[in-house]
Amino acid sequence: MNLTVLVELTYLLSAILFVVGLKRLQSPATARAGNALAALAMLLAIIATMVDAEILSWTGILIGMAIGGVIGGIAARTVEMTSMPQLVGIFNGFGGGASALVAVAEFLSNPAIGAGTPGVTMLLGTLIGGVTFSGSFIAFAKLQELMTGNPITFPGQNGFNLVLLVVGLVIGATTLGAFGFLEPLTAFYIFCGISLLLGVLLVIPIGGADMPVVISLLNSYSGLAASAAGFVIGNMVLIISGALVGAAGLILTMLMCKGMNRSLANVAFGGFGGSAGVDRSQIGQRPVRKADPEAVAAELGYVNSVVIVPGYGMAVAQAQHELRKVGDLLEGRGVDVKYAIHPVAGRMPGHMNVLLAEADVSYDKLFDLDEINDDFGNTDAVLVVGANDVVNPAARDPGSVIAGMPILDVDRARRVIVMKRSLSPGFAGIDNDLFYMDNTLMFFGDAKESMADLVREVRELS
Ligand code: TAP
Repeated sequence: MNLTVLVELTYLLSAILFVVGLKRLQSPATARAGNALAALAMLLAIIATMVDAEILSWTGILIGMAIGGVIGGIAARTVEMTSMPQLVGIFNGFGGGASALVAVAEFLSNPAIGAGTPGVTMLLGTLIGGVTFSGSFIAFAKLQELMTGNPITFPGQNGFNLVLLVVGLVIGATTLGAFGFLEPLTAFYIFCGISLLLGVLLVIPIGGADMPVVISLLNSYSGLAASAAGFVIGNMVLIISGALVGAAGLILTMLMCKGMNRSLANVAFGGFGGSAGVDRSQIGQRPVRKADPEAVAAELGYVNSVVIVPGYGMAVAQAQHELRKVGDLLEGRGVDVKYAIHPVAGRMPGHMNVLLAEADVSYDKLFDLDEINDDFGNTDAVLVVGANDVVNPAARDPGSVIAGMPILDVDRARRVIVMKRSLSPGFAGIDNDLFYMDNTLMFFGDAKESMADLVREVRELS
């Protein structure tokens, strides 16, 4: 078998592995294997490309793999779970930047590329890759608090962005030989600059807390940029894998918007998600019923069914292990224990699933919103740990900021125990009537410490 056939077969195998890997990401039980398959597919594709184009010797490939493996391994081990959106953001940025560089290199090696498919895809790769690169770094800076997380807006911003895009496209066409009012190379450099500027301008008006949605969208862009780069250099596996990333990122973005009952346009242009302009003076001013760990344990000592609702606070406190111990102890006492997972609990898709899996909570105890919402009316007690917006009954009020957002109907349970540090609002910045209801007990404290206290108290129940 000659080398070309072998390379093509390797590309085909890696495309199949990408599809199977993506399919396996569908369920937490198979996701780890799916990820490994997709990573193997990428490794095969990179090696095939390097061998085919004689870009590097085997020694060079092995050194590159070792360096990449060490960086990836350190990042995976040391980055906090709560910083995952930033990590994904920066990886997207590098992906977009790499695709843009492929397109740029193609143009620089052939400035007379012309207005055919290679020329148009080269421009698309540069534009989408450039936007992804600079946009992802702004998203990273916002999440890492290197710059303000609040929306940065100015009058006429959306109009300005639109004009800039149109100017960019005209200059891009000049690069390919149309209009002719600029020399192609000069036009191309301006086009690159406009692409980078657009990325910055598209992301700065978005509130820092909305950034996970934007990161998912930029992830989708990075796939499209890779696909365009695939067309530029005629690489089939890059086209396929880029299209898969583009489609998967877009589906995820839409699911996240649905979970918050917001349109993508509202996330992108709404300037929501920051704390600026929200009147918080009335929040947390009403009386609540407080309970200490002993009282909470006593409540839980007399129930037959408990639903545990984790949220962002559990992630911040890394309380998942203690929480599982509470669940296990209650189960040991014959209580029916379930975990209710809201699709946008926490700050990234699957945030709660990942943390509970890390704490070895079995998948069959996790229930999605649709599966569990009808059960709350027959549940003895709900333990809400660090969740706020996803259980806020204000979502049923048409005038609320979160009107229409699907919520877990925990207020319908006989007893609700809400565990958090204070009456402070969550991501949406609004008060939560759940805290003040007759059937609610507020269990104040840091989630990890409070769950550890609760473990002790439940153990002591006779
Ligand atoms: P939030 O509504 O953000 O509330 C989290 C609560 O955790 C806060 O009210 C905070 O109250 C508490 N908390 C923080 N640190 C804590 C600690 N150490 N111990 C105990 N409690 C602590 O969280 P949620 O209910 O999970 O809702 C998620 C929100 O994020 C939704 O509005 C959603 O739309 C948004 N969002 C989600 C995503 C994804 S994909 N998940 C993406 C973008 C936006 P205290 O300060 O009083 O403790």
